[in-house]
Order: sequence, then structure tokens, then C-alpha cells
Amino acid sequence: MIPHSFLQDLLNRVDIVDVVGRFVQLKKGGANFMGLCPFHNEKSPSFTVSPTKQFYHCFGCGAHGTAIGFLMEHAGLTFPEAVNELAQSVGLTVPQEPSPMRGGFGGGRPGQGGQSGQSGEGGYAPGVSKAVTNALSDIMQTACDYYRKQLRSAPNAIQYLKKRGLTGEVAARFGLGYSPDGWQNLETAFTDYRDDSLVEAGLVIVSEKQDAQGQARRYDRFRDRVMFPIRNVKGQVIGFGGRVLDGGEPKYLNSPETPLFNKGSELYGLFEARLAIREQHYVLVVEGYMDVVALAQLGFQNAVATLGTACTPIHVQKLMRQTDTVIFSFDGDSAGRRAARRALDACLPHAADNRTIRFLFLPTEHDPDSYVREFGTEAFKEQVDRAMPLSQFMLNEVLAGKELDQPEGRARALFDAKPLLQALPANALRAQIMHMFADRLDVPFEEVAALCEVDARIAQAARQAPARKDRHLVTGIERKALRNLVMYPRIVAQLDEEAEQALITLTRHGELFEEVTTHARALGDAAEFQLLSDLLRNGANAPTFEEIFREILDYDENVRDLLMKNPEDGAVQEERREQERLVSEEMTAAILKMRFDACSERLDVLSRQSRHTPEELAEYVKLNQTRADMKRQLGL
Ligand code: UTP
Ligand code: MN
Repeated sequence: MIPHSFLQDLLNRVDIVDVVGRFVQLKKGGANFMGLCPFHNEKSPSFTVSPTKQFYHCFGCGAHGTAIGFLMEHAGLTFPEAVNELAQSVGLTVPQEPSPMRGGFGGGRPGQGGQSGQSGEGGYAPGVSKAVTNALSDIMQTACDYYRKQLRSAPNAIQYLKKRGLTGEVAARFGLGYSPDGWQNLETAFTDYRDDSLVEAGLVIVSEKQDAQGQARRYDRFRDRVMFPIRNVKGQVIGFGGRVLDGGEPKYLNSPETPLFNKGSELYGLFEARLAIREQHYVLVVEGYMDVVALAQLGFQNAVATLGTACTPIHVQKLMRQTDTVIFSFDGDSAGRRAARRALDACLPHAADNRTIRFLFLPTEHDPDSYVREFGTEAFKEQVDRAMPLSQFMLNEVLAGKELDQPEGRARALFDAKPLLQALPANALRAQIMHMFADRLDVPFEEVAALCEVDARIAQAARQAPARKDRHLVTGIERKALRNLVMYPRIVAQLDEEAEQALITLTRHGELFEEVTTHARALGDAAEFQLLSDLLRNGANAPTFEEIFREILDYDENVRDLLMKNPEDGAVQEERREQERLVSEEMTAAILKMRFDACSERLDVLSRQSRHTPEELAEYVKLNQTRADMKRQLGL
């Protein structure tokens, strides 16, 4: 777990205007900066960044957070990854301390295990210095610019793209380019063609043959190909795929693995698709570069592709950070089936109850590109809507080709089902799938569980595989108290032990209060909504808290304005102290009311008992006294 004090330090050192400014064009407007919101489509700017509060907020869609939150939301990084990235940018090392909290914070989101920010996934390969990756990244960008420029003066390549039905607009969106024919074209793009970084970036290949000076000859990897730049989630070019214009081999040539580029974890088009994935609430995973580009042109901007490799669990994990619904599209042939099976295996550990994973099988002779061009957007959308649920595909995979009317066939099916069931998290979906197997194989549920060695007790097992929890329905006085605490976390410091315990034990959703008060206490005097909200959205109850945030930002204009105002301004400080005082009073009253209600309830129970132990009698007397005191305090 990363200490709260470090997070506060870090946010004091980085400038959110810089961080956001790398992705969003910001203009100064008064004390704050404004720009077009990167989280929803808009024509006029409602995205505000406050340099004094180090906070961003979109008045249009409600997106908000600190620099950490921005990197999480915008680049799809995990909390530790975002912290790590920011720390590196200001030369800090992230300290770790053992986690004192049970759930939530620091544990990462579901499916991520306890991976630390150093995993390289979503960022860079481990063990490679930032300086090296930055240099390589610059080189890739230079090459990308060069290829794009070359495309403009390459009628054959333009002709090819037109023949494939692409518009100039979509080509620009994906930064398509052209690597001209010839062996050392990149000499014109780089000052030093013999720089080994070009080799390391995978753009130049060193030959075994030597030139006249006795030096190893070098040549461009990509020659006479249409170039598809591959970007990471941050938008940096990390690799290329190059397609031949004719029937040459290989059809696609890809960048080799480099310190920047790892095929097993990158997805083509993810950077370009992020907004659409958010808006459409699902991502389409296809097999080819061309599929992604064609789909984007014809109405599906939410498509990504694996890079000629099987879908890996890392791919799935990356996608699950962007959305809860993933739809794979595969060709209907046997290669497509095999690819689908690999994707199924990669998905199983991520199949939480609140996620949807489906598989779409196109007719044998089609890929998404050809299908959408032949039958149109509507027809493809229908295919998407009708895609096969994971459970059904899994059932088919296990039962296909088995003689289920024979004991051997059924035994074989159970045998094949075992690793798949074991890979699933212990949740309701797994239980449902086991019921399906039990029905189809005509064996009792318990037998499926026993033979496949999976625990039939869901509730107990579910705790071992924490999924993001569903929303809690928090209402009335509890909701208000929670909102106030999230808004003004400094008032937690004014609560005494008894009051804090009351919030945790007397409320229906005590864990929510516990999460807030634990963070607030760790943040101390400087506890603020800004960082607190980023911390809470990293915990297990994120969906509930997101609702609370929305309420705060949507309905309370005072609060919203206060969030963006300069904290050093005396009048702002005064206003804030006044708000805190009011809220604190309200909180004290609310807690008193909660305790009063709990006390009344207990008294009620006791008074309805016909017999009492001496302890119960003593309790009754004491509670009666307490209740009378509280009644007076409450003015009832
Ligand atoms: P496809 O051959 O299905 O590609 O390979 P495609 O995108 O439909 O290509 P077009 O329509 O003929 O242009 C699917 C993916 O497999 C990888 C590429 O990532 C490709 O997009 N692949 C394919 C290679 O890496 N190398 C190859 O030679 C072929
Ligand atoms: Mn194709």
C-alpha cells in the first residue's frame, strides 16, 4: 500500500495542468484552465482544470479527479501505475508500506491480483529506464510522421487504401502512412541512420553482410508497405504493422518485440477507441488491423484488435479496465474457432458476475471488414447483439463431439470441463454454468462440483475472489452523512471514537463509512475531497461512491465552486470553514439520531421479552437512561 502522505506530497509536486495538458488542449479562462472534455464528446469546453486545487472537473459529464485520477481514467492505468508514472515524472520513488486495511484501497481493481505498478503492463516493460523508453518513443513518433508524409506522395498506396474502401478521414484518424520502396529511406528521416536506437526500436535491421567500409550493412525493416502505427493507451507510437500492397509475403510485417512494444499486452486501436468504448459501453475485439479501421469508418469506433497473436489474459484485463462488456468477433472457420477458444481461456478468470463477455462468429468467408462492407452497419450490429454468451460457448466447447448418451462421453465432458470451471472465479456465473452442465449431463450439481474439484459454496468462495461490488443502495440520513463525509473529510478528525463506531456499526452500510473514515484519518489535516475521491474509486465500493460523487458535483453548486477555487484566498478559506462547521453539526446530530434509533430498537426488543436475565435488566435500565439523555439533546 502506498502511504497517503506520499500521495499528498506527490500531488503537491506535479502540476495537473501539465499532466492534463499533454492530452487536452487547455486555454486559460480566469483562474482555471478550460478545454474540450476528453471523456465525452462536446463542441464547447466544459472541462475545467484548477491549478490551485490541482483538480479537474467536467461540468458536462461529471468526470473529476486529481492528476492520479486523470491518468487512471484517461490512460486506463491502475491506481499504482498512475502513481508510479507521476512519481517518475518528478523523480520520486514510490514507497510501500504493509496494508493495514482489509479490502479496497491498494488492492487494485478486481482481476488484477496484487500486481504492483511496476508490472510494465499499461506502461513499459520492467527494468527499462524511462530515459531509454522516452528516446525510443521519440524515434517511433518521428518514423510515424515520416511515413504519414510519404503516404501523401504515394499514389499507389493511396490507390490501394481507396480500393479497400477507406476514406482519408479514417486514414488520418489512425495515422496510416506508407514506407516507400528502397532500402534506406529512413536515412532522410533521422540524422544518424547508424544510431543503434533505430535497431532497438525495430525500424532498422542490421545485416550480416558488410559494406565497402567493412561495417555491417543496415536497412529499413518496412519497405513498400502501408503502415499502421500502433499506439499505447497514452497515445505514444510503440510499434507498426505494415501491409503489402499486392500479394507479397508476409502480408503483414510487424514491429519486433522492443522495450516499448509487447504484442501479448497491446491492442491495436485501443487508444483511438477509448471514447467510443465509454460511450457505447462495450468493446469489440477483432482479429485484424483492417477490421478495426473499416469498422471505425462504418460506425463501430469501439473496436480493437489483437496483434496477430492469441488473446491473452493481459489483453482481457486491459479491456476490462475500460468497460464491463467485451464482445469478441471471430471468423467462422476453424482458425477463428481456435482463436475464440484461446480468447475464452483468457477470459475465464475475468468473468465476474457484473461483466458480460460474448463471442460473435461470422460466416466462414467473412471477417468484420468484409462483412460490414457487404451487409452494412445494421446487419453487423445485429450480429453483435446476437453474439453468444460466454456460458453458452463454454458449454459448446465442452460438450461438442461427445456421445452424451454414453457414460464415457459424459465422463469425458466432465473431464474437459474441469480446467475451465476451475479457471472461473467462484461466483454466481460459475454456479449457473455448473447447473447447466449438471442438467445436460444428467448428474447432480454436487457431483459436478466434486468431480471438477470446485467449491460448490459460492458465498464463501466469493470472498476469495473479490469482484467490484455492486452498488449499495444507501438512502436517507445515511446517504446524507456519507455525502457530507466524502465532501468534507476533515470533519472526521472531529468525530470521537464513539461517534465513528456508531457510523460503522449502526448503519446498514458500515463498510462504506469505514472506508471513508480510514482514508480521512490517514490523510489527516489535509484531507480533501479531491484525493479522497480518487482513493475511493480505487476501492471495492467504487460504484457506490461514484454515485455519491455525482450527487455532490451535480447538485451542490456551492461545493462544486469551492472545489475549483484558490485555497489560499482568505474568503474561500472562511467560506469553507463555515461549511465544515455546519456539516459537522449536522453530522453530530445525525449520529445522535442513529444512536437514538438503535437504542430505541433495542429497548423495544427487550421490553417485548417475557423473561430477562439480570444482565438484560441492567442493560434495560441503562439504555432507558441513555435514551432519555439523547432525547433531551435531540430536543425531541
Ligand atoms: P488477416 O489476414 O485476417 O488480416 O490477419 P486482415 O486485417 O483481415 O487483413 P486484410 O483484410 O487482408 O488486409 C489478421 C491479423 O493477423 C496479423 C495482423 O495483425 C492481421 O491484422 N497478421 C496476419 C500478421 O501479423 N501477419 C500476417 O502475415 C498476417
Ligand atoms: Mn481482412
